Amino acid sequence: MTTIDNKQTIGLFGFGVVGEGLFHVLQKSPATKAKIKTICIKDPKKERSVAKEFFCTDYKTIIDDSEINLVVELISDADEAYTIVKSALLAGKSVVSGNKKMLASHLEELIGIQNETGSALLYDASACGSIPVIRNLEEYYDNDLLLSITGILNGSSNYILSKIFNENSSYEAALRKAQELGFAEADPTLDVSGQDSLNKLIILATHGFGTIVKPSEVFVTGIDKLNSFDIRFSREKGFKIKLIAQATKINENSFNLLAIPKLVTPDDYIFNVEDEYNGVVIRGEFYEKQLMFGKGAGGFPTGSAVLSDITARMHGYRYEYKKRKYFQNPVFTNDVSLKIYLRYKDLIDFGHFDFESIDEKYSGRDYSYVTGNISLKNLHKIQKIISKLDVFVAFLEI
Ligand SMILES: NC(=O)c1ccc[n+]([C@@H]2O[C@H](COP(=O)([O-])OP(=O)(O)OC[C@H]3O[C@@H](n4cnc5c(N)ncnc54)[C@H](OP(=O)(O)O)[C@@H]3O)[C@@H](O)[C@H]2O)c1
Repeated sequence: MTTIDNKQTIGLFGFGVVGEGLFHVLQKSPATKAKIKTICIKDPKKERSVAKEFFCTDYKTIIDDSEINLVVELISDADEAYTIVKSALLAGKSVVSGNKKMLASHLEELIGIQNETGSALLYDASACGSIPVIRNLEEYYDNDLLLSITGILNGSSNYILSKIFNENSSYEAALRKAQELGFAEADPTLDVSGQDSLNKLIILATHGFGTIVKPSEVFVTGIDKLNSFDIRFSREKGFKIKLIAQATKINENSFNLLAIPKLVTPDDYIFNVEDEYNGVVIRGEFYEKQLMFGKGAGGFPTGSAVLSDITARMHGYRYEYKKRKYFQNPVFTNDVSLKIYLRYKDLIDFGHFDFESIDEKYSGRDYSYVTGNISLKNLHKIQKIISKLDVFVAFLEI
């Protein structure tokens, strides 16, 4: 029989953008039989908007409290989040987490602990904030008809790209504005490098295809090298640039993943996903394409996704990882050919890229570009080199 944690006594980790957001969202949902008992934070000297009595700084205060049956982990540090989540699961508590970086690196082990202990870990807030993508992939798309998941999974970089393409803003000014509005972190590296999108993609692919892939196996490149030459190229050809993450089934036995800027046309469903919004296109065998759209970040949108996980636990819900259990899971591969746009300055830099075929080539005084096909394997192999060069890589089509 499934246990129903009807009364939830919560130990909350983190009282930042999302933790504080959740606190207020919970107050707006009086029907939810969940009460925050203790909040663990890092800095005891910070001013807080709720009574001092709630707070502690030692994570064991929550883990060792037998009255607390649900741990909600919303801290910024991925390594410490791992220790907290693992300890809570091993102590038999249910856990809700929003930490995509931690989850992408430790999913395999955390699923194993759930299987051994019977405890449950939910994390719908970790990918696409308020959009219920993970639970839909797990429950509604619980068959093997799924062909691809393509998404704008990072609100900060989408906000930056929208300002550049719609308001002629410079990259630097758009990034500054995103930081002022709280969409981008003080250190925006994870957002603009594509790494945050990749972490979310790893989680979505686990529920979409049943296979867990290590982030280091996947080619990722971001928008941090985008310059005015690339923007002019895109505009002249009628494209917008979007930072996407994509999981694609290649055949019955294999699939690939990548996180990369994409040159999109107006007939692409994600063309009009602007600002801090996220959009995920699910493509399947008989239903063609569906778009899920909504706010991917921010305290209240993400707080409401966390609330949904809390109430799901009240009803005894847990991810069954159905595709991992019941299907032959496709194998991850980089053995595919991609059509890309490569902008470069120096011919030596171009020499690192082993193109299979070239469609278009332009050589200018300041910059040059090539469009053509290249193997994803080659791109993955030179990923570290690419990150050090003055080049911009974008996906045209697979
Ligand atoms: N912001 C979003 O829109 C969003 C969306 C989806 C998912 N997430 C994820 O949600 C999590 C929280 O993000 P956030 O934006 O709310 O972060 P944030 O505003 O930077 O707040 C982080 C909180 O974590 C606390 N903290 C850090 N290390 C800790 C430790 N070792 N023990 C206890 N508390 C600790 C901090 O304490 P102090 O207050 O004392 O500094 C702070 O309250 C992250 O994993 C993030 O990736 C965020």
